[in-house]
Amino acid sequence: MHITMVKKELADGQPCKKCMQAEEMLRVRDVWDRIDDVVIADEADPQSDGMKLGAKHGIDVAPFFIVEESGEETVFTSIAKFLKQTFPDAKRPSRKATGTVDTVAALDELQGKTPQEVVNWALSRYGNGCGFAFSGAEDVALIDMAAKSGHAFTVFCLDTGRLHPETYHFIERVRDHYGIEISLMSPQATAVEALVHGKGLFSFYRDGHSECCAVRKVEPLQRALSKLDAWVTGQRLDQSPATRSDLNVIGKDVAFSGRGAELIKFNPLAAWSSAQVWAYIREERVPYNELHDQGFISIGCQPCTRASRPGEHERAARWWWEDETQRECGLHTGAGD
Ligand code: ADX
Ligand code: SF4
Repeated sequence: MHITMVKKELADGQPCKKCMQAEEMLRVRDVWDRIDDVVIADEADPQSDGMKLGAKHGIDVAPFFIVEESGEETVFTSIAKFLKQTFPDAKRPSRKATGTVDTVAALDELQGKTPQEVVNWALSRYGNGCGFAFSGAEDVALIDMAAKSGHAFTVFCLDTGRLHPETYHFIERVRDHYGIEISLMSPQATAVEALVHGKGLFSFYRDGHSECCAVRKVEPLQRALSKLDAWVTGQRLDQSPATRSDLNVIGKDVAFSGRGAELIKFNPLAAWSSAQVWAYIREERVPYNELHDQGFISIGCQPCTRASRPGEHERAARWWWEDETQRECGLHTGAGD
């Protein structure tokens, strides 16, 4: 038997998150050494070996696996199926034994489940160790589901200091409506002062948003996550074709660390459309940010968000002066999701 794994390298030189996750899973299952060849599909180079293999087999997702046995090739685009069929006896780490969770098996189990079922699943395992990252409409729908689950849960919000006044009122309304504690995470004063002293209050229009987001969002997020075992986000696949097309309902977050050996990330709304979220909000009478009634769809910080224009994609109204492949603020960089 000869096994080839094809991994993607993104056009901007970054590795593919899903491929990193798959590699880690193979290591956890003790079968990484059984992969004979790892071939890179360089998105920027259609002539790279991996891209040629993709074209040969009609596959445009990554990773994928080619198993060759007795002259016959079988191609797998699902790591779960690949593991099941190729290594049926591979080690299955149990959460109790190793402190880790088999996210490939969990993904198999959770794909196709409703967001409410995913939330129930997450909270029955992690309870208060599971934090809901709250800022927008999707997140309150998830908080509503968490409240209905009957389990304990925690909620945090990254208060960048640059949110709209309407968003601050919205946070308080959600707190009152559900009678919950919402931990507001502020950026470190010294870091904000250094940035503003050195570059002024609007450096992101000139130098790009990453520097400011790193100070106001990413560092506070890491602090919030350091007390948790898992976190839940309101990301959806169709929010950003450029950056969220490989979003999974569950994955290991390899970009951040929690309080234990690993941090699990849930995206229960991965498969939902915006229309489904809004149908839920209306049916369940979930509070929402009043900016949505003024033409805003995706809402972040005030200087970096504008109302959406008719017909444009919701993400176009965030960091609109930057390339669409750059419109992520660093919160969602390392979990195949
Ligand atoms: S962002 O990365 O571009 O800012 P987006 O606004 O699409 O993210 O939101 C995606 C998810 O990230 C939200 O559903 C929420 O879970 C989390 N998130 C984004 N901004 C915040 C914030 N300020 N506080 C807490 N969570 C946030
Ligand atoms: Fe700064 Fe804009 Fe990022 Fe908010 S979204 S942290 S204001 S760059």
